[in-house]
Amino acid sequence: MADVEHLLGELDLAEKVSLLAGQDFWSLPAIERIGLRSLVMSDGPIGVRGIGWAPDDPSVALPSPTALAAAWDPELAETAGLLLGQEARRKGVHVLLGPTVNLQRTPLGGRHFECYSEDPLLSGEIAVGFVRGVQRHGVGTTVKHLVGNDFETDRMEVDVRIGERALREIYLAPFERVVEAGGWGVMSAYNGVNGSPMAANGRLQDEVLKGEWGFDGVVVSDWRAARSTVGSALGGLDIAMPQLENPWGEKLIAAVKAGEVPEEAINQKVRRVLLLALRVGALGTEAAPEEDELDGEQVAHEVAARSFVLVRNENWTLPLEPAGLTKVAVIGALAMDARVLGGGSAQVSPPHTVSPLDGLRRALSGVDVEYAVGADPRPFLPALHSPTRVTIGTHEFEVEPAAVRWIGSLPGGLPMESVDGLRLETTVTPAESGEHTFAVSGFGTFRLKINGEVRYEGTLHPPGTGRADLLLSPREQRVTAVLRAGEPVSIVLEQTIVPGLAHSVATTLGHRPPSPDEDGLIAEAVALAAESDVAVVVVGTTEQVESEGFDRTSLALPGRQDELVARVAAANPRTIVVVNAGSPVLMPWAGEVAATLLTWFPGQEGGAALADVLLGAAEPGGRLPTTWPRREKDCPVLEITPRDGVVAYDEGVFVGYRGWLRAGQKPLYAFGHGLGYTTWHYDEIAVTATEAVVTLTNAGGRAGREVVQVYVGPAGADRDRPERWLAGFANVSAHPDETVTVRIPLPPRTWQIWDDGWTTVPGDYRVIAAHALDDERLESTVTIS
Ligand code: BGC
Repeated sequence: MADVEHLLGELDLAEKVSLLAGQDFWSLPAIERIGLRSLVMSDGPIGVRGIGWAPDDPSVALPSPTALAAAWDPELAETAGLLLGQEARRKGVHVLLGPTVNLQRTPLGGRHFECYSEDPLLSGEIAVGFVRGVQRHGVGTTVKHLVGNDFETDRMEVDVRIGERALREIYLAPFERVVEAGGWGVMSAYNGVNGSPMAANGRLQDEVLKGEWGFDGVVVSDWRAARSTVGSALGGLDIAMPQLENPWGEKLIAAVKAGEVPEEAINQKVRRVLLLALRVGALGTEAAPEEDELDGEQVAHEVAARSFVLVRNENWTLPLEPAGLTKVAVIGALAMDARVLGGGSAQVSPPHTVSPLDGLRRALSGVDVEYAVGADPRPFLPALHSPTRVTIGTHEFEVEPAAVRWIGSLPGGLPMESVDGLRLETTVTPAESGEHTFAVSGFGTFRLKINGEVRYEGTLHPPGTGRADLLLSPREQRVTAVLRAGEPVSIVLEQTIVPGLAHSVATTLGHRPPSPDEDGLIAEAVALAAESDVAVVVVGTTEQVESEGFDRTSLALPGRQDELVARVAAANPRTIVVVNAGSPVLMPWAGEVAATLLTWFPGQEGGAALADVLLGAAEPGGRLPTTWPRREKDCPVLEITPRDGVVAYDEGVFVGYRGWLRAGQKPLYAFGHGLGYTTWHYDEIAVTATEAVVTLTNAGGRAGREVVQVYVGPAGADRDRPERWLAGFANVSAHPDETVTVRIPLPPRTWQIWDDGWTTVPGDYRVIAAHALDDERLESTVTIS
């Protein structure tokens, strides 16, 4: 193995500093002289985009991180990580930008779907599994975003004020777990914490992360988060990304020469970068570790089914018995056009997606599976489903549906300056005569031609937005055309790209066939439901609701979806609602439907997994990693609009269910809730200060899986601490009548608080074995001294 100290000695100041900043959007420069190749980074938590964001370079799309956490299974997270490590290797990526372990402090957080849980222990354990899997391939991870990036409003400027106790016990805890388990990277957040921007926060990055925790990996800035040359150089940051608006490079060399930054500070960063390069095989001749090849579709399918949370199942409506079905109604815009992933940098372009409708039609081949839109919550038209030729410079490829998006490197590896335009071209043969609506959405200057005739020419540019916001909030322009069924129509969309802005494109050619008005759509769906054996209604959020870059303004389902569910349920008592949302939504109809299944953003195989779960080929394996409220106002934390640039975490450690318990509020579905297709009898609990041993029996008629949850809390009143908290959990499987025993470790931290250091609080504790936070099955006490 090459020697880091020796290599460092080979480099001059300029070379050393060059290794600390992006040479483009995603990579660090190579220094061939010392055998160092360019270190490539890529998002992210559910797939591996690769060095670009280009649709001609697909990646497996796994379910959203919240879904992964909903399986409550670090081993499954490790499998997910293994798959992404494999994808990273395939795409020449050395460092994966994930996992995201910011806390689900409030369901209004725009990136809630990208985080694991409202509980730090569950977040940490899932993250550790994921990191282990990725790193087994010799691919690095960056656990992100250190720390306090739990909402999006003013994320670049906001200063988050977090008390030391909440910081240690809640927000830093998952990062600390990953560092302890051997993570090779951390990404520092955009926001500030307690008065100092995270990219320059020496207290947390140097003293706590590198000092107290002994972290030996790299701290990478979030993209464009490093804004000061000296402050971030002295504040524990090792790599500033990307090249755009980077404060290091020449400026950092000058700062070293001026004596503002000691050269030893640079050396320390370079040592970390070289160590990372060694770990990921970018230095010397290190071969990639051998791991068995995983089948991406199969992993995506398994994680999805294991993540679905069945929150309601009246009279065992599910699983459905396929032999008893003649006609099934599948309803909802998202049933046809599933939203498989959340918005922002967590996006990848999957090779294909299986919608709920596809999945059910495939699985129910002898059954009449009919579709109705019912309600479409999307403010923009969905991308046209037609094979579309994309031409950019000298590079051509095909996409379906008609949407192109990239950030950073261009498709086909084209040089940035060579591109001044983009062309999408397709021929569609309408199935129906009448008024079709087409739409252009994105940012830039466009020309839309239908059958050779220019129908739109203009510039779409949201006013006053920065580059990231352009990508995250595009605009739309619609035109209509009367078309005849069976007659092919040529559609051409041309986009002019201003040189210099070629690194970000988000263009969609939308389409809607002739359709009834909103009332007519609901009426059609209700009529279909009334004449079907079962109605499966898929409802959910849109890209304008859940995404990086902004927070949610409401937890209500957008559009008329609530009305749709209520009316379908009134027409058919066997109405099953499938919720396709990454984070909690309100369900005013919760008590009126036969079954409700939460499927998160289920990844590319979501529809196939859905069919398995609805039809009983698989059990819904998920348990809620976050509380689902009945009413928005009951949530412990809703205030995320900065005042004078500050958001104060005044609730302290009372986040998520800890806050719900303190307020004595009952949510719609509690943390940990989730039904399977069998029942469990908890037989026995035995507890010591270091372990809970739980014995349980599968008391139902099917083989199944249970997540045994152990909560602990002070036996007497203690206003300073939550009533109880998750101390450990385990996954068990058993056949009918089989009895199993699980041993759940209770590490010293279980009994500690942060009081100027980790301090054990002596006394009597309740130790509870539970099916969910609100479904306690067995209890014991233990005295901690
Ligand atoms: C996000 C990060 C992401 C980075 C690179 C940022 O906007 O906050 O999570 O890794 O972009 O895409």
